[in-house]
Amino acid sequence: MAKIVTAFGTPHTPFLPEQVSNAPGQLKPEAMMNEVREHLEKAKPDVIIVFTSDHFVNFFYNHFPAFCVGVIDEAETTPETGCNMPHYSLQGHKRMAAALHRAALRSNFDLATAQEVKLEHTIMVPLHFITPDMNIPIIPIYNGGLAPPAPSARRCYSLGRMVRRFVEDWDGGERVALMASGSVSLEVGGPRDTSWFDEPWVETVKGLIRKGDYQGVARRATEEKMLAAGNVAHELLNWTTVFGALDGALPDYLDSQRGSVFAAWDLEDGR
Ligand SMILES: [Fe+2]
Repeated sequence: MAKIVTAFGTPHTPFLPEQVSNAPGQLKPEAMMNEVREHLEKAKPDVIIVFTSDHFVNFFYNHFPAFCVGVIDEAETTPETGCNMPHYSLQGHKRMAAALHRAALRSNFDLATAQEVKLEHTIMVPLHFITPDMNIPIIPIYNGGLAPPAPSARRCYSLGRMVRRFVEDWDGGERVALMASGSVSLEVGGPRDTSWFDEPWVETVKGLIRKGDYQGVARRATEEKMLAAGNVAHELLNWTTVFGALDGALPDYLDSQRGSVFAAWDLEDGR
């Protein structure tokens, strides 16, 4: 039986790696990434199941699945404008990902699959800070949150519950980490300025996380609410998916900067 030993969530600001390399030790987001990294290193996971929203790198409007799991042996970063970071390659956990796909279909979650993916900043910016050795295989699970209509937050929560059941039933002994990538409130490319964020919404989400009311987040994160919180605020769906797998565990680290939340859960006791 495998086990979820940790979970974490961070934003994936594309220019953060360059900002930090230009001013090491001086920026709050670097310190927050380091805090999350300490929790992950303590948990010593064998695989990271990554929940992210594809940013039109792997998918486009000609085919944008609501959910898709990457069943991959390995993948590499793809160059992206505005994201100056090292080129990485990463192993996938193909056998476990294929089993997760099967388990999802049997549980009435119609996940698409991709046997080739390009690793974009939404995965690689967090991992650049949190697993800089890039030695932990990943299973990427994408949602179509950036190409509304998006799957509902409640559906994402249920998907997270299914992933937890899958991990607990899996015949391997892997120590599993879960990663939520994305911001809670953010506008990119206008009409509002990128410095704008919906502070009351961020505080509401943080307050619910602090007391472990994850279903409360899923209930409140309607399509209308997320669109009002910014044109990429559907990234919260990645968090609500992880919430579904937490079984109510309270966060061991929680902080935020503007519309970005950073959090980590130590789940070694099996919660
Ligand atoms: Fe994003």
